[in-house]
Amino acid sequence: MEKNGSFEIKDLKISYKVFNGELQVVDGMNLRLNSGERMGLVGEAGCGKTTTLKSVLGILPSNAVISSGEVLFNGEDVLKFDNKKMQEFRKKNCAMIFQDPSSALNPIFKVKDLMMNGMRNSLAKSKDWKKVAYEKAVSSLRDVMLPDPERIMENYPFQLSGGMRQRVCIAMAIATDRHLLLADEPTTSLDVTIQEQILKLIYKLSIEKKLSVILVTHSMGVIREMTDRVSVMYAGTVMEVGDTKDVLESPQHPYTKALIACIPKLTGSGVAEGIPGRVPDYLNPPKGCRYVDRCPYATAICREEKPKLTDCGKNHQIACHNCGR
Ligand SMILES: Nc1ncnc2c1ncn2[C@@H]1O[C@H](COP(=O)(O)OP(=O)(O)OP(=O)(O)O)[C@@H](O)[C@H]1O
Ligand SMILES: [Mg+2]
Repeated sequence: MEKNGSFEIKDLKISYKVFNGELQVVDGMNLRLNSGERMGLVGEAGCGKTTTLKSVLGILPSNAVISSGEVLFNGEDVLKFDNKKMQEFRKKNCAMIFQDPSSALNPIFKVKDLMMNGMRNSLAKSKDWKKVAYEKAVSSLRDVMLPDPERIMENYPFQLSGGMRQRVCIAMAIATDRHLLLADEPTTSLDVTIQEQILKLIYKLSIEKKLSVILVTHSMGVIREMTDRVSVMYAGTVMEVGDTKDVLESPQHPYTKALIACIPKLTGSGVAEGIPGRVPDYLNPPKGCRYVDRCPYATAICREEKPKLTDCGKNHQIACHNCGR
């Protein structure tokens, strides 16, 4: 089997059980990541970005149901992993950085315990694993440019600033050589000056460590700077995917066009209008294209049939019945 860190989400469907029914949130999500690639994931609040990423690590809340689909890592379906295999996958192959670094770090442990525990599995076979783990942890803290790593190892999370905590999360993610980093709005809760540093750091590490990255962000500027490709998600499906430059400069899907038109221009006058309408009701979503009620180009077929992702250029796909309008 290929062991190159290939990653693919195929036709994934996830719903949440709620008191009055099922929220059909993720609806046939598809995403393919080449090894070492940085993929941006954008879309309005509530379109299922976090839900999708959590499913990869098996950390969905208990009311979530994965009804179909596959998440393939090195050709193996992660969704079928038992507990032990999933633990191993998390410790060896895939790490996630969350929006809020405080909730990601267990407050009762020192940084050194958090970091060394994370490495335990991958180093378990050596006798002096503790010494090796300590040294690796310190060097990872140095990699993320935290000053005085030995002192930070002795700190509890509450003794660190938000930016420092996020750096610790990133250090934990890179301390063992993993293939895949899921970064879910990693800088939203941070100071603007720190945001840039953290993003640059993720970029640098992704190149140095040949990490594949899925980066969720609401900023098209960050997408432009950081990613090779971008997937535009709407209400649980990918509407457009392509090389970042192509998608930003010549978006093909009506939703992407509208999303890009919302970016306030420095030279423009007034405030951007936003996209009229709202994300569909997940209890009773439209049968066909989920964007149908907001799309100015919708035709009869859009109500009936879900559009599939199809080529609309080199490396560029959209899910739209009225492609090219
Ligand atoms: N535990 C849950 N129970 C019920 N519904 C949930 C649960 N978690 C999320 N949802 C719903 O699923 C939808 C998708 O949520 P998700 O957090 O994946 O969106 P998102 O794209 O990450 O949004 P944001 O950009 O705001 O982070 C939302 O409508 C949300 O209300
Ligand atoms: Mg989210």
